[in-house]
Amino acid sequence: GARHGPSLMPGGPAAAYERVRLILEAAAARINGEPCVTHLGTGSAGHYVKMVHNGIEYGLMQLIAETYDLMKRGLGMNAEALAAVYENWNQGELGSYLLEITAHIFRRTDEVKAGMPLIDMILDRARQKGTGKWAVSEAMELQVPTPTIDVAVMMRNLSGNPAARKAAEGMLLGPAAPFEGDAGRFIGGLGNALFNSFLGTYAQGMALLQSASAVYGYGLHLEAVARIWRGGCIIRAALLEDIRAAYQTSPDLPNLMLDPHIGREINLRQGDLRSVVRTAVDLGLPAPGLAASLAYFDACRSAWLPANLISAQRDYFGAHTYERIDAPGIFHTEWSKD
Ligand code: 3PG
Repeated sequence: GARHGPSLMPGGPAAAYERVRLILEAAAARINGEPCVTHLGTGSAGHYVKMVHNGIEYGLMQLIAETYDLMKRGLGMNAEALAAVYENWNQGELGSYLLEITAHIFRRTDEVKAGMPLIDMILDRARQKGTGKWAVSEAMELQVPTPTIDVAVMMRNLSGNPAARKAAEGMLLGPAAPFEGDAGRFIGGLGNALFNSFLGTYAQGMALLQSASAVYGYGLHLEAVARIWRGGCIIRAALLEDIRAAYQTSPDLPNLMLDPHIGREINLRQGDLRSVVRTAVDLGLPAPGLAASLAYFDACRSAWLPANLISAQRDYFGAHTYERIDAPGIFHTEWSKD
């Protein structure tokens, strides 16, 4: 960002932005001549967009970490082999800043223990400054589902006590059978699973922005958000071109996955996401980000969900009422009568 220009996410009064616009545009990163900055909206719109950017960042990082785990512990791959996979993925549709630095990380050797990959010397405890947590707590407040981002925060919390996990390792059992199958094929499917989960994470973040814009009156344009995230920020990715195009065509798209092009791409790869999650379960490797992304996809495409039972239970124990499918209004039943 310092050398090539950052993505800047300002909000506030439009007239104030106009006074500094040329300075910000000159400082910002540029993609195809377009500056990665724009006036996002009124009030705290800019800070809010940056907060959601970081929530998405947490989600993408957790997803990449799960692919690392599946290849390291699942397939037994070393740092060099892992670097090659991420370098390869970064050349294609998954191209992104986070995959680029992931490949670099696996290539770095330790200066203390010469020859050892540095990654293998780093403690498996991820800390946080809290912006992901803010995004999740805002999503809960506005009742917007962001499951991949939620579990990304949860897994950082869970990583926080390595000593307790070490103690539990010998006591709590998992499956004994190692990975069986074609490793090359699995890695291909893993890339597709990551692609779908990346898109699901952006979809969750964009849905949160859409809802916040309505609630707080920001006047956000999601096309502009996707446009300024294409360069100079941690979640910049080739995918953002498609995301931008989706909101350019339909500014009020209710969910990014409903864009015809993006929906087609996700449908093509959904089988691979399922099979990767199945493999993670079979191997006893935690992949809550991938699993949550799949559940988000499956729930969003479900015309029916078992929430009618939850409504009935609430009405049973608390007279909280329910709605019916065949008539408007609210209803209550005296459940314990018979
Ligand atoms: C950043 O550097 O962009 C983030 O602030 C990192 O946030 P974290 O410390 O919560 O991971």
